[in-house]
Amino acid sequence: MKYGHFDDLNKEYVITNYETPLPWINYLGSDSFFTLLSNTAGGYSFYKDAKLRRITRYRYNNLPLDQDGFHIYIKDKKTIWNPGWQPTRTKLDSYECHHGLGYSTITGSKNKIEVKQELFVPKNDNILLMRVTVKNNDKQKRELDLFSFIEFCLWDAQDDTTNFQRNYSTGEVEVVGSSIYHKTEYRERRNHYAVFFANKKVDSFDTSRDKFMGVYGSPAEPQAVKNGKCANSIAHGWQPVGAHHFHLDLNANESFDVIFGLAYVEVPFDKKFVKPNVINKEPAKQLISKYNTNKKFDEGLNNLKSFWNNLLSGFEVSTSNDKVNRMVNIWNAYQCMVTFNMSRSASYYESGIGRGMGFRDSCQDLLGFVHMIPERARERILDIAATQKEDGGAYHQYQPLTKKGNSDIGGGFNDDPLWLIACVDAYIRETGDWNILKVKVDFDNNHDVADTLLEHLRRSFNYTLNNLGPHRLPLIGRADWNDCLNLNCFSKYPGESFQITGPSEGPVAESVFIAGMFVKYGKAYANILEHLGLNEEAAASRKAVADMEKAVLKDGWDGEWFLRAYDAKGQRVGSKANDEGQIYIEPQGMCVMAGIGVESGEAQKALDSVKKRLETKYGIVILNPAYTSYRLNLGEISSYPPGYKENAGIFCHNNPWVVFAETVMGHGNRAFDLYKKTCPAFLEDISEIHRTEPYVYCQMVAGKDAPTFGEGKNSWLTGTAAWTFTVLTQGILGVQPDYDGLRIDPCIPASVKEYKINRLYRGTMYHITVSNPKGSQKGVKKILVDGKEVPLGVIPASRKKEVNVEIIM
Ligand code: BGC
Repeated sequence: MKYGHFDDLNKEYVITNYETPLPWINYLGSDSFFTLLSNTAGGYSFYKDAKLRRITRYRYNNLPLDQDGFHIYIKDKKTIWNPGWQPTRTKLDSYECHHGLGYSTITGSKNKIEVKQELFVPKNDNILLMRVTVKNNDKQKRELDLFSFIEFCLWDAQDDTTNFQRNYSTGEVEVVGSSIYHKTEYRERRNHYAVFFANKKVDSFDTSRDKFMGVYGSPAEPQAVKNGKCANSIAHGWQPVGAHHFHLDLNANESFDVIFGLAYVEVPFDKKFVKPNVINKEPAKQLISKYNTNKKFDEGLNNLKSFWNNLLSGFEVSTSNDKVNRMVNIWNAYQCMVTFNMSRSASYYESGIGRGMGFRDSCQDLLGFVHMIPERARERILDIAATQKEDGGAYHQYQPLTKKGNSDIGGGFNDDPLWLIACVDAYIRETGDWNILKVKVDFDNNHDVADTLLEHLRRSFNYTLNNLGPHRLPLIGRADWNDCLNLNCFSKYPGESFQITGPSEGPVAESVFIAGMFVKYGKAYANILEHLGLNEEAAASRKAVADMEKAVLKDGWDGEWFLRAYDAKGQRVGSKANDEGQIYIEPQGMCVMAGIGVESGEAQKALDSVKKRLETKYGIVILNPAYTSYRLNLGEISSYPPGYKENAGIFCHNNPWVVFAETVMGHGNRAFDLYKKTCPAFLEDISEIHRTEPYVYCQMVAGKDAPTFGEGKNSWLTGTAAWTFTVLTQGILGVQPDYDGLRIDPCIPASVKEYKINRLYRGTMYHITVSNPKGSQKGVKKILVDGKEVPLGVIPASRKKEVNVEIIM
């Protein structure tokens, strides 16, 4: 069942049924100010860091669901309603939510009154703008009351939900005209406040939640809305909110519009006050004046749309499959930009408190956005690398505001360092910016021990070699990519963190997955060294990679598939010798991507085993059979009920690894079939089962052992976005950035006869046509550049503005 449809022309998803299976959200903001917005106008805002600079409150596991946000209330005689349906849930006569790139529009109508809410965060300003237009479609005059409402968070989202004995006394506001200033803690160490303004004169306002809602009131029936006016309350402690009220008399066909803005404002410390305890509002006024008319609002929105159109125009495909086109050209790329901004920090399922930026997560996310924003990718690489420890290990996470490694969680996740090589390699292939390797970057944010980025890569590479186990395979540490396979943890007590309990330095537990990574990214490292003329070191690295390959084929092979690991007692994990968890997806994908066993036959066997043992109609499960009981030697993975998350769920992130692996083997039909299984656009028709947004990937889909097989969870912030974008564009459609140019090597379904791609690469627009007259799945026969045949292989980077490339398979 569908709840809306794609509008590819406008790059929107249009939701027409407000009762979506879960809130279907959008991300507004692409610089520093962000808002998450659901299809019923739920959501929250923050500045840069969802933990430390939360602007509005959000109760994630609330009942009813998704009650906090940016709601507009209409009081029409006795009827109270919202254009986005929530929180009153008064039945609407019509409803549409358009989620676009960085903006959303929600329109609802009831009894001949239509209300439209247009929301976006303009480029380069810290403000959420919301224009509300009320139209009287009746033949007679109508009298109505319009209310806005938001609830401020007292900045630190963690403290805000725990330290009530203090917080209920700290809240402070100031109100001037239609501007409500939230200034809690500004009197002490903060130099920032929020302002919620309206561009028209209000009839009344509230800043005390008790007054607006009623002490025992509910968002479905606020006291002020029922009364038809606010109480002009000034909050002292408790819960500061912002509510504006307008009384409207609308003639037949008349409209009223008002622009609201919610801004974050910083003031220099020495200019904080204009009078004792009266805040300096000058910077707020300046910001407000940039957006306080319809003309300025429209300009801001148009700028935003051009920004996105421009950004996405660097990679456009035209195939005969609309779903593929819309994923590459719009939604998958958009999701990659959101993961660039958020990593795993703030979604409807990530509270913004628990996790900052993940080291491995951010490195992988970069694979999906480097082509769109190379300069910011560069900055991100340097930020991530600066948190690396001197021994080459990594902090597992860092805080976006401070950019410092998070010592609560620390390091010891032994795959982390290798992902740094992966993203730097991707960055260089994309940009040709070899100079980045010369940049001096801190270790552990300590400038005294800074060294070149190349040295960081060296330490990443050596970190694996310095941490090998009894089979000369990499020690796993706390965990590898699978955060929940905790082989050195042995947690017995409830509430202990699986991620940090137990020693991270277990001397025995080894990961075949990291071994695969080492082979894949070790080769990339050796390529980089060679390119720099460091031939001896490159040769030594290749030798280490070859040794690892041998170790995998000797002790990391289980007969029909790659083994997953050795546990802390040296026993096999992911082996036919096990009673449960006999085969895992990760080493199959990674080892084949790395090229291990491609010549000698293990790779094909491993992929056959994936098909036989792990594949389902909704994608490939992470392992099989599911663990039915908790295993002390395996940790969190066995804590989940069968079929969920890392215990035999379809963990979408690693599905594209198998798709990639199939392209390594030249299986275009199979690669595309697998690609479709987890691709949201292909799941739109089963939204009642899949439940999450049909325009973005989710982290996990319940596996075949789960009672809710096919149900998606944790949408938006997942490495799946980057990997599926990469596998579709590079593995399947075949446009692969290389060190000195573009390699175009498609691996497609035999039925595909032709497709076209516009690809901006190092400043040149490549207009690529791939034709496949013979119905091949892989293998380029001829390349023409601007009409002239050129040798097969990499097409050297051009200096021209535009180049035409014809690929004949
Ligand atoms: C984490 C990833 C991890 C994955 C698998 C995600 O929630 O962000 O870092 O690789 O889970 O455990």
